[in-house]
Amino acid sequence: MIVVDRIATMQALMRQYRREGKTIGFVPTMGYLHDGHAALIDRAREENDIVVLSIFVNPLQFGPNEDFARYPRDFERDRRIAGQHGVDVLFHPEVDEMYPAPLSVQAVVKARTDVLCGRSRPGHFDGVATVLIKLFNIVMPDRAYFGMKDAQQVAVVAGLIRDFNFPIELVPVPTVRETDGLAKSSRNVYLSPQERKEAPALYEALKAAAAAVDRGERNAEAIRRLVREHIEAHTHAEIDYVEVCSYPDLTPLSALAGTVLIAVAVRFAGARLIDNIMVELPAADRRGE
Ligand code: PAF
Repeated sequence: MIVVDRIATMQALMRQYRREGKTIGFVPTMGYLHDGHAALIDRAREENDIVVLSIFVNPLQFGPNEDFARYPRDFERDRRIAGQHGVDVLFHPEVDEMYPAPLSVQAVVKARTDVLCGRSRPGHFDGVATVLIKLFNIVMPDRAYFGMKDAQQVAVVAGLIRDFNFPIELVPVPTVRETDGLAKSSRNVYLSPQERKEAPALYEALKAAAAAVDRGERNAEAIRRLVREHIEAHTHAEIDYVEVCSYPDLTPLSALAGTVLIAVAVRFAGARLIDNIMVELPAADRRGE
């Protein structure tokens, strides 16, 4: 595995791979790798000649009162995991390498940001889009792999790739969970033992919502209420949002139809967690809206 921290070195290496006709799969991360990242790497490994993993905690996507400084970091552990999963190139730039001077041009995400994390974290997706434009131009991948735990990010990145004509196939990968259902997240390490015990209630609530839909519930407000009540009854977390929206355009729904995303975000004292579940309904049901 080659470890690179300079942009120019990375671009020269990537051009060389492209000249050799090799396909490049890219897994962008902020490090502190877990099984969710490993699933992205494994999928990229299956589908490409070269696998590139980036580890960069991107300051632009954190708000002033968010956890940029305390975001977990352990490069040696990450390097080991990357090697074990067959990463060919690990790109690990410093902040000064990525942002040597204040940016003169920055991305603004105009659609799908007035809901979910976009609403509670203003500017977050502008920061994500900006760093991804840079990373896509540095890595020049054929495919880029993103976890569905952040379904809104996947939808935003699909828009970015389409609007800016990046010749990149976006590959969404299902959420990886602990045995008790908690979605794997780098931030889980910050949960207290009590919070860790309570956290699986998020996915239980989402599964209960999906079961209600299976039984015929089509009222989005009833689904929001069900999820909210389950989380309130089983955790001490503060609910940031419970939302039911169409996917991938992320329009909040009153009646369920088509591909529907049921998403939650909560704040425990130790960490803010997100999770979601997708349900498929006949689009024809929209006639009832
Ligand atoms: O999902 C993440 O870890 C980050 O948002 C990403 C895509 C690496 C951009 O910094």
